[in-house]
Amino acid sequence: MSKKPVQKQDIPTTGHEWDGIQEYDNPMPRWWLWTFYITIIWGIGYTIAYPAWPGIKGATAGLLGYSTRAEVAEEIDAVNTRNEAINAQLASAELTEITTDPELNGYAKSAGAAVFKTWCAQCHGSGAAGAKGYPNLLDNDWLWGGDIESIHQTVAAGIRNEDNDNARYSEMPAFGRDELLEDAQIDQVVNYVMSLSGEPLDASLVAEGQTVFADNCAACHGEDATGDRDQGAPNLADAIWLFGGSYEDIRDTVENSRFGVMPSWDERLTEAQIRAVSAYVHQLGGGE
Ligand code: HEC
Ligand code: HEC
Repeated sequence: MSKKPVQKQDIPTTGHEWDGIQEYDNPMPRWWLWTFYITIIWGIGYTIAYPAWPGIKGATAGLLGYSTRAEVAEEIDAVNTRNEAINAQLASAELTEITTDPELNGYAKSAGAAVFKTWCAQCHGSGAAGAKGYPNLLDNDWLWGGDIESIHQTVAAGIRNEDNDNARYSEMPAFGRDELLEDAQIDQVVNYVMSLSGEPLDASLVAEGQTVFADNCAACHGEDATGDRDQGAPNLADAIWLFGGSYEDIRDTVENSRFGVMPSWDERLTEAQIRAVSAYVHQLGGGE
């Protein structure tokens, strides 16, 4: 069977021609045309059934009354209802029980991880490793205490924020800015602090720096410089730095002091959420 060759002159052309190449005016294939019509009908039907046409105050609602927002709200309600009992248990248990009861602890850790990602990660980092001025919560080095009660209080009331009367509070003096120490004394004490966990910039100043420290710093940071959690005064002897351990960073801290502020959460989160995230942070640090 051989196909009769199509004669060029049998087919109408569009009249377009480029360098001797002409464009045939063939009709669209049927199947293609029908598919095209069906998509138009489908499109019209869809915009009637679902929210679609934009107006001045939001889009048309659609006959089915569907909204993704309502769907999410429904899902959230369902999850909340499912967790109501365990949340109530979490909110009323002894804090230490949360770390010892396996069921409560498992729930608190996973719920706490979700709270952390939403409310805490922007400052403490998604992996909780912190950044300059924002403490690393993965290690077992704590400013204000790492047992579950201390963490719970820190999270609920916050640190140095004026909105909460129970917020943890302390203030390191600005020894340079407020002229409490001479420039040379600051130089000495900075070198002493550096010598506690590494190499000082100028070893000849360390001895005098120790005297300056005993007179001006030990009241908060302790005689041995290992810090004081009641005042949120960091351990200066462990080579873990909140605001940096270089000569310049430490000098900046001593001259101008620091004033790390953390928001309080007791008005934004439920008690169960605060406990959950506290349990989560508690086990991240190894759990004191
Ligand atoms: C706006 C930034 C910010 C947010 C958000 C934030 N924090 Fe903090 N957080 C800080 C700062 C800054 C400090 C250190 C304050 C200081 O210098 O004493 C801190 C300290 C802490 C401490 C004390 C650590 C220690 O060593 O004692 C804990 C625990 C903590 N945050 C947990 C949380 C949790 C849990 C959340 C989320 C519910 C959260 N933080 C959200 C800024 C923040
Ligand atoms: C009134 C209590 C107080 C006194 C006195 C004090 N500090 Fe502090 N110091 C603090 C507190 C509280 C912080 C933490 C500040 C923050 O987190 O915002 C701190 C932080 C520091 C840091 C930062 C540590 C880090 O991890 O980055 C250094 C360094 C430091 N102090 C050195 C000194 C030296 C040196 C003196 C004496 C000249 C001194 N401090 C006196 C309370 C005190």
